[in-house]
Amino acid sequence: MRERSQGFRPWVWLALAVAITAQKRCTASEARPEWFYEVSPPRHVCGTSVHPSADHTAYKTLWWHNTQFYAVLDGSSNTKSLPPALSMNAAIIGLPTLSARDFVNNTKAGWIPGVSLLVDFPFAAYPDNFGHWAEVLLPIYNFVRQQPWPAKAAGTHSRIDTLVLTNLRKEVLSGLDWFWEMLKLVLASAVPPHRALPKIVFYEHLSHLSRDTWLGFETALVIHNRYAKSEGASGFASQQLAQQLRAAAFSGYGVRLPARGQLPKTITIFQAAEGEEIVNRDELMAAMHDIGRTFGLTVRPYTATARAPFESYLSVMAKTGILVSRHGPFLANSIFLPPGAMVVELLPYNWEWKGVSKIYKNITQSMGDIHHFAWRAKHPKWAVYPSDHEARYAEWTAEECASSDCLDVHARAAMRVDVATVQEMIVETLPGWLRGDSTESLERAWPDLLKANGSTGLWWDK
Ligand SMILES: *[C@@H]1O[C@H](CO)[C@@H](O)[C@H](O)[C@H]1NC(C)=O
Ligand SMILES: *[C@@H]1O[C@H](CO)[C@@H](O)[C@H](O)[C@H]1NC(C)=O
Ligand SMILES: *[C@@H]1O[C@H](CO)[C@@H](O)[C@H](O)[C@H]1NC(C)=O
Repeated sequence: MRERSQGFRPWVWLALAVAITAQKRCTASEARPEWFYEVSPPRHVCGTSVHPSADHTAYKTLWWHNTQFYAVLDGSSNTKSLPPALSMNAAIIGLPTLSARDFVNNTKAGWIPGVSLLVDFPFAAYPDNFGHWAEVLLPIYNFVRQQPWPAKAAGTHSRIDTLVLTNLRKEVLSGLDWFWEMLKLVLASAVPPHRALPKIVFYEHLSHLSRDTWLGFETALVIHNRYAKSEGASGFASQQLAQQLRAAAFSGYGVRLPARGQLPKTITIFQAAEGEEIVNRDELMAAMHDIGRTFGLTVRPYTATARAPFESYLSVMAKTGILVSRHGPFLANSIFLPPGAMVVELLPYNWEWKGVSKIYKNITQSMGDIHHFAWRAKHPKWAVYPSDHEARYAEWTAEECASSDCLDVHARAAMRVDVATVQEMIVETLPGWLRGDSTESLERAWPDLLKANGSTGLWWDK
């Protein structure tokens, strides 16, 4: 297919715009609410073509219309069958035409030139979930750091001109400093010159387009994550990339990252300001103080909120040697722990769905220099349900609990930690950790779910 629009220089568009403005000067109400796209489609638009590869899919000439993405198909399209969906929450509809060019010429259409990165956040109801953001942003980081970009993805340059948040409104992200700073770090190598971020199109811009308008994307990029492809990894593509992101975060925000061998002698007990409750937290604190006295470590609690400044996370991580936390979104900050630090993760009862318990483990594993162990609650005695109604789920087997109802209940339930076991686990590891042993040599098996024995917990009302 011919590359379009390459031959059009900015001054051509400018001249065109001036000409159109001049011509329309007398007509009333020329204000365009669709401010975020600039030009009409080039005259020789082709059908949509799809270019899948292992870590991303590139779409050439993808269309948005009336809350859906469309592939306009004709003889110039390279595809007979479309992927089942663009991403987890975004379908793609095939629209067969005799000629994509005539189709576009006959519709009211806008055009976003260059490379647009489409980001579909898997769980739009939880835009402040750092864990899901890590799962979405790290594959994007891995992709944009490739040199050179795959040709079909790059169009004419390896740069992201427009970021399209396909299912998030601007207001739900306001004040989420962590998200915005992470976004800058992740896209740093791919932004247009002199900009911290590409132009951003939010969901409300797309949804407010008038119903008769079609909006074309010259090149739309979808980076695969584990929600789109089961084999999509949730960590960094290499240890080097992980270390570069961490170094960039620290140097960009003026916080000093301790060097290897100067690990802070601090146990940080990390907890979310809301939810993720540990009912015997005092007992856990006392056990950590015990360890601290024996091994010369200080113990500090830290209460995390999603709207805390990014620097406060960096600063807490920089001062942490051992991070003890219930499984939860704030553990995404483990990527900012100093080399050699240790994560001790406390997994709630019956908390598993598509390998979700390993989100943070897989990320730290990909970094190569963070130890990461977990204790898992394997009996309902470690769960404290807020009501009898929710306690019905206590007897469900782990397999049965893969439904969102049961998972939500267990995400909400408070947990009781088997403090003696967790303490023993840390104490066993500490001599090696203090010596600076490698992550491989201190590795422990990830605690699996108990498998059901042919019985079922579903008959809770029997
Ligand atoms: C677009 O349509 C108009 C009239 O419908 C026609 O005059 C023009 O030649 C068409 N342009 C292209 C590029 O097909
Ligand atoms: C973690 O990695 C394992 C093994 O590579 C994989 O099977 C699992 O799906 C991953 N889980 C997550 C949440 O990334
Ligand atoms: C399955 O059976 C074994 C042996 O009878 C028992 O120890 C284990 O607790 C049972 N597991 C569950 C989930 O009931």
